[in-house]
Amino acid sequence: MKWRSWLGLVIAAGALALPADAQLSGRPIRPQVARPSGPVWQVIRQNCTLCHGIDDYAFFALDKRGWQELLESKHKAGDFVLSDQDRNILLDWLSVKFGPNTKPFPRTYIPPEITTFFSDPEAKRLLDRACTSCHELDRVEKARNPEEQWRVLVVDMRVRGAKLTDEETERLVEWLGRVWGTNLGK
Ligand code: HEC
Ligand code: HEC
Repeated sequence: MKWRSWLGLVIAAGALALPADAQLSGRPIRPQVARPSGPVWQVIRQNCTLCHGIDDYAFFALDKRGWQELLESKHKAGDFVLSDQDRNILLDWLSVKFGPNTKPFPRTYIPPEITTFFSDPEAKRLLDRACTSCHELDRVEKARNPEEQWRVLVVDMRVRGAKLTDEETERLVEWLGRVWGTNLGK
C-alpha cells in the first residue's frame, strides 16, 4: 500500500503550497461588532443572541423606525418579545451606532489577490495619505492585530471615508499583519 502514503504526501505538499489566505479569496469579509455594555447588552443577550450574533447589524444604517421595520421584516412573531422599555433601549442604541449618519459595512468587499507587497516606506506613505485626515497615526501604531482583523478594520475605515482602492487595501492589510501583527513577540 505504498502508493497510498505517497499520494498522501503529494496532497499534503499541495496544501502547504497554498498561501494562508487562499481560503479567503472569493469570499466577502464580514464585519466585527464589539459587544455593547450595560443595559443594551442585557437586552441583546436575553432576546437576540440565542439565534445569531451581532456582527450583521453593521450591514445596516437606519433610523429608529427603519430598525423597527427591519426587525419586524426579518423575524416571525414570537422570535422574541420585547417590553416597551427594552425595545426603546435597543432601538436607541441601534439607531445611533448603526444610524443614518453612519455607513453600512459593505456586503461585497472581496479581497483581491495581490502579487506585490509594500516596503515599509510605501506603507508609511499610504498611511500618511489615507489615514491622517481623521486621527493621528498613533491610533494605528498602538494596535496589534492578526491580518484578518486588520482587514475588517481597514474596510471599516473606508466605510468612514478613508480613500483606498481594493488593491491598496489588500497591500496595506498584508503589511499591517506582517509588521503590526500579533506574533512579533516570538
Ligand atoms: C428565533 C431566532 C431569532 C431571534 C431570537 C432573533 N433573530 Fe434576528 N434573525 C433570525 C433569522 C433566521 C434571520 C435571517 C432572516 C432572513 O435572512 O430573512 C435574522 C436576521 C436578523 C437581521 C438581519 C441580518 C442580515 O444580515 O440581513 C438582524 C439585523 C437581526 N436579525 C437582528 C436581531 C435582533 C436585534 C434580535 C433581538 C431583538 C434578533 N435578531 C433576534 C433569527 C432570530
Ligand atoms: C474619515 C475618517 C477616518 C479615516 C480617513 C481613517 N479613520 Fe481610523 N477611525 C476613524 C474613527 C471615527 C475611529 C473611531 C471608531 C470607533 O471608535 O468606533 C477610528 C478608529 C481607528 C482605529 C482604532 C480602532 C479601535 O478599535 O480602537 C484604528 C486602528 C484606525 N482607525 C486605523 C485607521 C487606518 C489604518 C486608516 C487608514 C487606512 C484610518 N484609520 C483612516 C475615522 C477614520
